[in-house]
Amino acid sequence: MKNICVIGVGYVGLTTAACFSDLGNKVVAVDISEERIANLKKAILPIYEPGMQEVVVRNVESGRLHFTTSYEEGLKDAEFVFICVGTPEGVDGEADLRYVRIAAETIAKTMDHPLIIINKSTVPVGTGDWVSDIVKETQPKPIDFSVVSCPEFLREGAAISDFYNPDRTVLGSTDRDAANRVAQLHLPLRAPIIVTNLRTAEMIKYASNAFLATKISFINEIANICEALGADVKEVATGMGYDKRIGPRFLDAGIGYGGSCFPKDVKALAHMANVHGRHPQLLHAVIDINDYQRRHVILKLEEIWGSVKDKVVGLMGLAFKENTDDMRESPSITIGDYLHGRGAVVRGYDPVAMENASKIMPYLNLAEDPYDLARGCDAVVVLTPWNEFKNLDLERLRDVMRQPVMVDGRNLYEPEIMQGLGYTYRGIGRGYNGSNGKAKKK
Ligand code: UGA
Repeated sequence: MKNICVIGVGYVGLTTAACFSDLGNKVVAVDISEERIANLKKAILPIYEPGMQEVVVRNVESGRLHFTTSYEEGLKDAEFVFICVGTPEGVDGEADLRYVRIAAETIAKTMDHPLIIINKSTVPVGTGDWVSDIVKETQPKPIDFSVVSCPEFLREGAAISDFYNPDRTVLGSTDRDAANRVAQLHLPLRAPIIVTNLRTAEMIKYASNAFLATKISFINEIANICEALGADVKEVATGMGYDKRIGPRFLDAGIGYGGSCFPKDVKALAHMANVHGRHPQLLHAVIDINDYQRRHVILKLEEIWGSVKDKVVGLMGLAFKENTDDMRESPSITIGDYLHGRGAVVRGYDPVAMENASKIMPYLNLAEDPYDLARGCDAVVVLTPWNEFKNLDLERLRDVMRQPVMVDGRNLYEPEIMQGLGYTYRGIGRGYNGSNGKAKKK
């Protein structure tokens, strides 16, 4: 049993706090938001994350997990302090480190015994050294500490299982003893542990996210070529994925990546490269392709109707991906804003993200379920691959629509089946049976 303090109770912080307490450690989670902490004490979570509520309640009840706004309380017995605060996108794609700075300064002012400070937030390469300098400069009197980078690789919507089943643990530090002690904490997870220097660990995180984003933009580019040439990108991805060097995952073509990580991290990496005189051409292409994918959905509607003005369009799914209520950088915002701006009536349905979505897209006309969404629509546009959309009664859906038009931004359905049901159906990259329907066999 170790004493751990976690700063920040967003996705990364709450998962770190809840899961390390579940492994038998004593964890105090600190956040500057009184409201978040008051809610957590009542088991009201700031995020929707499958399984999280149970883990939090179980560990609060066992006395291993506490929530507080007080750094004093958090650091009192701590051997480790995890910095898990947000690093939003700042100017020119540069990561905004103001919350990391506040956390580092407050830790420095509050600590009264040696600490291992572990950075889990995604931070620009060099931030570990910067945190170390801040702590040194801010401490009222010198007390030993060490900074270790331990980037987080969990996915929203799968945070708990990703925490317990990581592919690897990356630890960056030049202090071998500190790195070993953090490694001990992670031993129950039985994953390979890679120890590097601080900057390399920070870079592993960016390079991993940028590679995954590249994989998505790559398959989206292939999808667009498939549309022109009459091939089916889903089958192309399957055929490619059997090659062990390529692998089947992250090859789902669609409306492009969103969320709080990929868009921000790819831009931040490109920014770091530019600042240091490098030309990250591939990263720029990844970003451009991703932007285009959102417009692509709209182009498909305009290709069918000429103009979207006065059309009623139902957005099926609003969150940036399934199993989350997170709307950050969700493609649905760009697509909804455009449709609304061009005079369409925009309706929306999402199993859990509607409250968050309506704050960002106040024009949305919200529905109770997919059928209610489709009622009277000129088109339904599938934007989030929620499981509940995969087995819809598509005849019932068609019958309540004004025109049976579907743009399937996640390739959930089969073009031939949809066309057989009488839909005007457009998938992404689905050759002559779907998509634009124009390409013909020679
Ligand atoms: C991502 C990474 O997968 C995590 O490893 C990382 O820890 C996290 O960012 C982070 O940096 O914190 P997350 O943003 O939760 O996790 O979501 P993903 O499941 O990776 O999906 C990202 C976006 O790509 C979503 O919009 C998703 O719909 C899209 N996507 C994913 C595709 O369009 N196609 C795919 O084949 C896969």
